[in-house]
Amino acid sequence: MSSTSNKNILNTPPTGGERGTVIKADKLTKRFGDFTAVDQISFEVNKGEIFGFLGANGAGKTTAMRMLCGLSLPTSGTGRVAGFDVYKENEKIKRNIGYMSQKFSLYEDLTVKENIRFYAGIYGKSDKFIKDKTEFILKQLHMENEADKLVKALPLGWRQKLAFSVAIFHEPQIVFLDEPTGGVDPVTRREFWSMIYQAAESGITIFVTTHYMDEAEYCSRVSIMVDGRIDALDTPSQLKKSYQAKSMDEVFLKLARKAARSESNPTKTA
Ligand SMILES: Nc1ncnc2c1ncn2[C@@H]1O[C@H](COP(=O)(O)OP(=O)(O)O)[C@@H](O)[C@H]1O
Ligand SMILES: [Mg+2]
Repeated sequence: MSSTSNKNILNTPPTGGERGTVIKADKLTKRFGDFTAVDQISFEVNKGEIFGFLGANGAGKTTAMRMLCGLSLPTSGTGRVAGFDVYKENEKIKRNIGYMSQKFSLYEDLTVKENIRFYAGIYGKSDKFIKDKTEFILKQLHMENEADKLVKALPLGWRQKLAFSVAIFHEPQIVFLDEPTGGVDPVTRREFWSMIYQAAESGITIFVTTHYMDEAEYCSRVSIMVDGRIDALDTPSQLKKSYQAKSMDEVFLKLARKAARSESNPTKTA
């Protein structure tokens, strides 16, 4: 079992920028009863960017992401993803994005190959496209010998890399990754980021949540969510300057300290 190479970890993340906006949220809000999980978040993501969506547990990241993926209707505010409206065009959004959910997103009782085929089939790609792409993925992941193994038999890091490959199988404009490296060892996390960079180089915009502050450094820009709001948004280097912090860890701690939600702040017990 070998692994993907690290050569695509770049020193400078892509800036996106001039090539247009692919995600735009304006005062996007989600309430569950009288609890506001996502509180008027506004931001734009440029084509080709790696956008890091940070926040402690319970900050509202998954809820925000599900609205942007067309999986959950906002309570108020507006949102456009890949040019489509999150209220009225969620089916079109789903066809134009990839989504790797926070909970395990493959079928454990299917083999590696069956999982790839299953997801490929959803997007109505030709048999030839599916065959070629399947071979490409197995080769890229060095998983040719695992093709007929059940996914549950693979180590977590491998499953996550496979889940990412599957999420971008149909070559979407944008891929949403919800804590894709949670619980994964540092070496595999770097390999995973190498795959993220490759996808970004191929033109896919990346929207990614993470707990790991070293990974925040790999992002073009980073937003930090606290109690449902976006409290900071900038490039990692600018954030460190603004918060007079040596690391993203320090930036994050300075912001998270203000959190009222008990999940977000271990010093405030529930
Ligand atoms: N379906 C739901 N009903 C009620 N509360 C929810 C629901 N989904 C999420 N929440 C609450 O919203 C807050 C944000 O959750 P979530 O978006 O999962 O945060 P994160 O992904 O940042 O950890 C949490 O307090 C969570 O308990
Ligand atoms: Mg979450």
